[in-house]
Amino acid sequence: MRHLMSPLDFSVEELDKLLNLANDIEANPEKYAHACAGKKIATLFYEPSTRTRLSFEAAMLNLGGSVLGFSSADSSSAAKGESVSDTIRVISCYADICAMRHPKEGAPLVASMKSRIPVINAGDGGHQHPTQTLTDLLTIRSLKGRLGNFTIGLCGDLKFGRTVHSLIQALIRYPNVNFVLISPEELRIPDNIRDDVLRKNNQNFKEVVRLEDAMPELDLLYMTRVQKERFFNEEDYVRMKDFYILDSEKLKLAKPDMQILHPLPRVNEISVEVDDDPRAAYFKQVQYGVYVRMALILTLLEVEVC
Ligand code: CP
Repeated sequence: MRHLMSPLDFSVEELDKLLNLANDIEANPEKYAHACAGKKIATLFYEPSTRTRLSFEAAMLNLGGSVLGFSSADSSSAAKGESVSDTIRVISCYADICAMRHPKEGAPLVASMKSRIPVINAGDGGHQHPTQTLTDLLTIRSLKGRLGNFTIGLCGDLKFGRTVHSLIQALIRYPNVNFVLISPEELRIPDNIRDDVLRKNNQNFKEVVRLEDAMPELDLLYMTRVQKERFFNEEDYVRMKDFYILDSEKLKLAKPDMQILHPLPRVNEISVEVDDDPRAAYFKQVQYGVYVRMALILTLLEVEVC
């Protein structure tokens, strides 16, 4: 039995296979419509979510399976003090696979150790968000035609942004990826990613503060939200929240085929006028998230579709 805690749990070859499966699902959805008939996914969300929870549910429904779960800690027995370990032992009696989001780093890993069903990390604190990374990889490969040989700008909250941490770890395994890390001083990439991931693996990267300075060289721009829920005080959040606002004026500096990604939700960091720009790819990214989660469910449940 396999779990998914980090994008590195899959080799590059396994990831290729998973992304190919997602592309086949996109092209031939009817082929997969009953692949998980009789199977159930439990979505255990101790933190708010729109995309991740509902895309897992949509993915299982598209495969002919069923869904159950909770969408906040308050509506589960966690509110009465039940541990994650006990909860997963219970859920193992009800479902075939589960996706767990938790504010504490490592909580899905703890659950996986007691689980009798595959556990998918659907985001743990500021640590990892591997299924967002699978979504990002599928989006990049589909839109650029390749993984590697590009310059990607990662902009916003690089300190607490788990999507950025997971994506960097995944992308260093592909050739000739140049990273431009764009953040205010207070929200720079954590030392463990800069030193243990980027420097240790001889990756080409630089850190800049101004988005305008980085824009002309980027093939991809990955915007992120400044996350209110990760700040210890409101004052710091208010000071940081509008540090970056991507608008049509700034986009004039970008390459005509640069693609703009964002894991969403968006607050103010991308002006709504940008949504009509052909380079805005963040809503396509949401759709890719369903295909890749369908592929992941099939892979972890070892369901073969001929
Ligand atoms: N991208 C993402 O994780 O969105 P949600 O928080 O809505 O799940």
